[in-house]
Amino acid sequence: MPERSRKLNYRELEEQQQYIEDIRTMADRPQTYHVVTYGCQMNAHDSEKIAGMLQEMGLTEAKIRDEADFVIFNTCCVRDNAERRALGNVTWLKEVRKHNPKLMIGVCGCMIQEPGMAEKIVKQYGFVDLAFGTAVLHRFPEFFWRALHEEHVIVETGGEDVIVEGMPARRLRHDAAYISIMQGCNNFCSFCIVPYVRGRERSRDMKEILSEAAFLHENGCHEIMLLGQNVNSYGKNEKGSAFPELLKALDDVGIERIRFMTSHPKDLSDELIDVMANAKHVLPQFHLPVQSGDDDILRRMNRHYDRKHYLDRVQKLRSAIPGIGLTTDLIVAFPGETEEQFEHTLSLVDEVGYDSAFTFIYSPRTGTAAAKMPDQIPPEVASDRIQRLIALQEKRQREEMMRFVETQEEVLIEGLSKRNANEISGRGKHGISVTISGSENDIGKIIPVQITGVKLNTLAGIRMDESGCQ
Ligand code: SAM
Ligand code: SF4
Ligand code: F3S
Repeated sequence: MPERSRKLNYRELEEQQQYIEDIRTMADRPQTYHVVTYGCQMNAHDSEKIAGMLQEMGLTEAKIRDEADFVIFNTCCVRDNAERRALGNVTWLKEVRKHNPKLMIGVCGCMIQEPGMAEKIVKQYGFVDLAFGTAVLHRFPEFFWRALHEEHVIVETGGEDVIVEGMPARRLRHDAAYISIMQGCNNFCSFCIVPYVRGRERSRDMKEILSEAAFLHENGCHEIMLLGQNVNSYGKNEKGSAFPELLKALDDVGIERIRFMTSHPKDLSDELIDVMANAKHVLPQFHLPVQSGDDDILRRMNRHYDRKHYLDRVQKLRSAIPGIGLTTDLIVAFPGETEEQFEHTLSLVDEVGYDSAFTFIYSPRTGTAAAKMPDQIPPEVASDRIQRLIALQEKRQREEMMRFVETQEEVLIEGLSKRNANEISGRGKHGISVTISGSENDIGKIIPVQITGVKLNTLAGIRMDESGCQ
């Protein structure tokens, strides 16, 4: 069974609760907050927890960042541009503080866990009031309290490799929710900084996850997204992973839609595919990052699978779950990648035909194995490769998405369309965005839709609840 997950003990809970109470009753504390989130769903869910704690302290959300009394940046450092964007925005707030001297600034998340970053914050970003890493998130009330009472910058990194249960979260949506099932990563892909900043893999207790899901179900939630850097290795021990068992148990809770991400191809078992194929509520979609289509690059990336294994998993998924939505992550210009090796990635993308793909130019991350590899690829070569990859992916995606035309999808509406005020959009069961006519009143509902066509990244459809053809 999963290990190293624990609840905050009574003393720790009391301590944090005391800080929350103290802040709540302070006369001149900040009244409003704004959380800026970078990076992946893990960070988005951490931001919900930060917002939950701030609301318990009596602060309310300011929709506009520059109007808040406390702004906190939850940062990402997976690529250099994510890091630069976060630091640029933090620096901009220094200007905002000139007009609002009481403004408090916090920085947290993966970037703070990078070696040397805490010292850099103190030295170069002395106007920041508090900075803390991912493993000490549950102590945020204490850091906030200290920042209100102490003159110097509060900086806290490190912390135990355990999961903390029982933190209040302010979920952004009531119809769909994130559930974190495991944290950290043991894979050490040679390009990736995540294991260094998020620590080793640790899984939550299955009972805790099930009771969180049951609570959400009772409160009208339609969809849960299970989160982890490698959900396939949830509760992994000598006998294998407990993820299929968890998925089966969650299927019985009754929530209409269950999704999960991310899965590592080396850990995608036949058992998991069988559970998905037989489940009532697990959606027919799979995010399976491949990174490269070339065996030598995959070996040097330390991915522990080859092209043949990957294609075998895709074939198995497609025969067990016909029409399954497939998405991936791809990196171009990994150190030493030749034109021929890049073309192997192109041919894999052509062969698989993904419904969508996140495409990245390799970004060297200090401390990772790949950053020390020779033959880093010149930017102009990288830029040419990514453009060719995107062009091919867009073409294949349009072709693949045609399989949905004239089929029906149940779409969970997420919001108003950005382009047209009379349109709404949401995700179908296969994970693809669908746009239909509608209004704000439809947000959070599951609407049956007849798919009529393919746009660039989305499907267009007509709603069947209004056309009478249901
Ligand atoms: N755990 C997930 C997996 O293994 O598939 C991925 C998590 S990572 C946060 C998301 C994606 O970022 C990766 O799949 C990879 O494509 C990309 N990525 C990670 N490190 C990168 C780097 N140094 N340069 C470019 N892309 C990177
Ligand atoms: Fe990074 Fe690899 Fe872990 Fe994913 S599996 S988080 S890419 S080290
Ligand atoms: Fe970024 Fe951390 Fe996620 S580095 S991608 S926010 S785990």
